[in-house]
This record gives sequence, C-alpha cells and structure tokens, in this order.
Amino acid sequence: MSISIAKAQKAIGRKVSLNGWVYRKRESGGIVFIVARDSSGILQIAIKKDSVDDASWKAATATTIESSIKVTGTVKEEKRAPTGFEMQAAKFRNVQISEPYPITEYQSTELLLDKRHLWLRSRKMTEVMKARSYIFRYTRQFLDKKGFYEVTPPIITKAGGETGADMFEIDFFGQKAYLTESSQLYAEVMEFALEKTYSFVPSFRAEKSRTTKHLAEYWHLEPEMPYFTNEQAMGLEERMVSYIANTLATKNPDILKNLEVSPETLLNIKPPFERISYEKALEILNQKGLKKAWGDDFGVEDERALTEDKDKPIFVHSWPREIKPFYMPINPKDERTVLSSDMLAPKGHGEIIGSGVREWRLKELLERMKEVEEKKGIKFNMKNYEWWIDLRRYGSIPHAGFGMGMERLIKWLLNLDHIRDAIPFPRMVNRLEP
Ligand code: 4AD
Ligand code: MG
Repeated sequence: MSISIAKAQKAIGRKVSLNGWVYRKRESGGIVFIVARDSSGILQIAIKKDSVDDASWKAATATTIESSIKVTGTVKEEKRAPTGFEMQAAKFRNVQISEPYPITEYQSTELLLDKRHLWLRSRKMTEVMKARSYIFRYTRQFLDKKGFYEVTPPIITKAGGETGADMFEIDFFGQKAYLTESSQLYAEVMEFALEKTYSFVPSFRAEKSRTTKHLAEYWHLEPEMPYFTNEQAMGLEERMVSYIANTLATKNPDILKNLEVSPETLLNIKPPFERISYEKALEILNQKGLKKAWGDDFGVEDERALTEDKDKPIFVHSWPREIKPFYMPINPKDERTVLSSDMLAPKGHGEIIGSGVREWRLKELLERMKEVEEKKGIKFNMKNYEWWIDLRRYGSIPHAGFGMGMERLIKWLLNLDHIRDAIPFPRMVNRLEP
C-alpha cells in the first residue's frame, strides 16, 4: 500500500503494510519516531518498545536516514505529526540499512548537483518529476486528441535544422556527424506521409550560455501542420499550452500545492494570448529604456521587460528576416519580416515556443537559403539538405510548425528558479555528471 492510500479515510484504524524509506528519525524514551517516505508522500511512524517484538525494536533503533524499510501497523489521525497522521507500528524491518547519507539539511547547490542521483529523492524533486511526467502526458494527450501522429526522427544527423552553429559534432565511423539541434526537417518529411505529426525527442545545443534557461540537452516537442497559416499555428499553440496548464491544475492540485504553485494561476491560462509584432515589441522595449534597434534579437532582459507584468504568455510575431532561420518565408505584406512567431512565458520565464510557416516553394526556398548564407556569413552544404529540399519538388504543400522546449515550459508552470531542476539529469556547459 502507498502512504497516500494509508492516510485515506477508509484505511484509518485498519492494519496496513507499507514499503518505504526513512526520511527522518528521532528517539525519545522507548519510542522511535520515523518519518517514512514513498513516492506518494510522507507519514510519521511510532515504534514503541512495549508494543513490538524484539526484532522490530532492534530494527527500528538500528535504522538510519534513507534506509529502505517495511512496516506494518495501524494509522490514526494525530495532530502533532507532520502530515496529521501517525502509524502505530506492529512490525518493523529494514530491507537495507543505509550508509551515512551524504546529503544533510544545508547543502551547496554544487553538492546537490554532484549528488543528483540521490537528490532526486528529495520531496521537492520528487514532486517536480511527477509534474514533469504529467506535463509530458498532457502534451501528448492534447496532440493525440487533435489527430496528430507521433513520429521518431534520428538523433544523429548530417545537416543542421537551425543555425547549425551550435551543434555537437560526433565521429560517425569516420564521417562528421552531429547530434540533432532540431528534428523539424525530419518531422516535415513525415508530415508529407502522415499529415499532422509531432516529433518528441531531445535536441542538443552546444551553446556556451550560462543562463537559467539554457540546457545542452533538452526535450523538444516539434509538431508540423499541413496547410496551417501562422495565425492558425498560434491558435493551436495557445490552446495546447492552456490545455496542459489547466489539466495540471485540475488533475494534480496536490503536486502544485507541494511546490507552492497556486492551481488558480494555471486555471487562468486561457486563449487568446496577446499578440504583438516585433516592431511593437521594439517600441515597448525602447520606452522601458532598453535600447533596441530593428534586427536585434531579444535577450533575457528584453524578454523579462516584455512579460514581467503578464499573467499569460504572449506572442511576438513578424520577426525581421535577417535574424530568423532559412526555412521561414518572407511575409508578402511586409518584406522586412518572415511569417513566424515566438511564444514568451509570463514573468520573465522567456521564450517557450518558436513557430512559423515553412517556405514550401522550391525557388523561394533556394533564394532564402542564399540570403541567409550572405547575411549570416555561413555556407550550407546543400548536399546534406537535398532530401529535405526534395519535399519542395514532389507534391509540395504549404505548412507550418513549431518547437516547444519542455523544460522551459516546466520551469514556467512550476515557477522554478533554474531550468536544471526541470530535468532529472541536466547537461550544461559545466555539468555532465551524474
Ligand atoms: O527557437 P528554436 O531554436 O526553434 C527550432 O529549433 C525550430 N526548428 C522549432 C520548430 O519550429 N520545429 O527552439 C525551439 C524551442 C525554444 O522556443 C525553446 O523553448 C527551446 O526550444 N530551446 C531550449 N530549451 C532549453 N535549452 C536550450 N538551450 C534551448 N534552445 C531552445
Ligand atoms: Mg527561437
């Protein structure tokens, strides 16, 4: 039985058995008090010398923090216990007595990262990882309900899907290859067979950024939608993000409360999200004293200035053509811009979605790739893109898609200080272990 079930009304007063770990321990005059933990919660257990057999008493006095235990007893309400319940043990056994636990109450962030394999058992990380699992589940649920197919792209690639500048190079049997920075190009291929598709695998970025929102390996959701306009893509994105936030608030309020996130704030995430053009965003930033000119990309500070007073995400659309990738088409109504938008999370959590229409016409695509080569001073190895360009040769269709960073989404929804806590084993410039 789990601790949460043992604390439920119908288990009160009945004899139940639990498997767990020792979270806290103290001894006072013939009673050992243990706070046990399992994935569902914590429960105080009182082992009284006079009410248990010798083996149980010995085991209880010998147990240590993080020992794995089996206990049988009766649960009752107890105002003085940490969660308002206490089990009176009838039988107590150690499964394994833990060595002295290396994590004690006050520890540096570095130590907690070094001992990540143990820190993941902490109350906070346990709740974050449960929320992460649900957020992944609701994301898939939403897209599945909308008729999308999940597809699986390769992780080892020859061509970049974005700038190509920040890729991890690997030696593939003597050939130069890379860990994928985006699966978009492969998701597009699958789209021409299955229509609405999404790829949901990690992307890798060799950016040396030391910010609270950059990982070198992150989980990247990348849907592709045939015949969608940029406006329709934004509509889908705001419905998806609202669905995830609302479902988490409705189905998992306890996890949110344990993380001090109010379910109400997540219930208030509802479409429509405000839409502002890049040009308008520049105006706002300049009014706020952040000197920005046409063609500048937005950094952490700019994103904060645009969203600090918002409760819901916003879209920034119509970005300058010189700062956006080669697959984005020129906006026919304003040739300075491309048909794209970013979704920025409120309160400075930053960009969570990058989105846009794909250039689907062969001639225009090749022109656009040339333009990006000139503007960014890069050279595409066209041989590596031929398969993707083929989509524009054989039955091309207009389409749009987007990429959402799952850890960015989690950081915002759970109001975490740092993106590293949104993923169990963060990979960052200076962090490759455990
Ligand atoms: O804006 P990005 O670079 O766009 C693409 O990769 C497109 N090909 C996506 C697509 O249209 N299929 O990345 C998309 C999202 C960002 O909005 C952000 O949420 C996340 O990926 N992201 C990162 N998350 C964590 N750490 C990093 N270093 C990230 N870089 C991007
Ligand atoms: Mg982006």
